[in-house]
Amino acid sequence: MKVVGIVGSPRIEGNTEQLTQEALRIIGEKGIGAELVRLADKTVLPCTGCGACESEETCPLDDDLLPLYHRLKAADGIILASPVYFGSATPQLKAFMDRAGYISYNNGHTLARKAGGPLVVAGRNGGNFTNAQLILWFMILGMIVPGSNDWNTAFGTEPGEIWEDTSGINTVRVFAENLAWLVKKLA
Ligand SMILES: Cc1cc2nc3c(=O)[nH]c(=O)nc-3n(C[C@H](O)[C@H](O)[C@H](O)COP(=O)(O)O)c2cc1C
Repeated sequence: MKVVGIVGSPRIEGNTEQLTQEALRIIGEKGIGAELVRLADKTVLPCTGCGACESEETCPLDDDLLPLYHRLKAADGIILASPVYFGSATPQLKAFMDRAGYISYNNGHTLARKAGGPLVVAGRNGGNFTNAQLILWFMILGMIVPGSNDWNTAFGTEPGEIWEDTSGINTVRVFAENLAWLVKKLA
């Protein structure tokens, strides 16, 4: 069993990465493999809408997307993590969602019935928009999203500030426990 956490922040070791590490730490403690992928270390170009993946499980763009898509396919659980950028997920994560999502959608919903969910960091506003944006990606792809005790947003601006948001951190820990529980149930 494995959970892959995709971090969409361009800021290496920033709040989103630290939050994802915390969720993966808890998942690892439950005996599930946990891997973090930093999109900041990868090249994932925006979708060009060429339609190649509508007839084949592939993408003609020559970058890091296809290997990452296959890592999602091999995983039992998927976390998408993003800071809020103007009320939205980052363009890096959106490019990943568009391309991995469209390949899966067009080729028999290859990610269906996996467990997964969002993690969001907000400086102040827009956490719910970004949570909704990410949750809807899981939903249209047929995945199963566990809840927590609130929506999965932690607040912070400077790297590390999220740890002062004890309530947000607690929500993310409960989400991670519920995701681990669900992954085991579905295995
Ligand atoms: C371009 C840009 C846009 C942002 N837009 C928002 C926003 O709409 N709402 C908000 O609460 N914070 C916003 N922020 C703040 C980040 O969400 C916040 O600093 C977060 O902690 C960054 O996470 P990171 O350390 O993982 O990069 C924005 C930051 C940047 C750089």
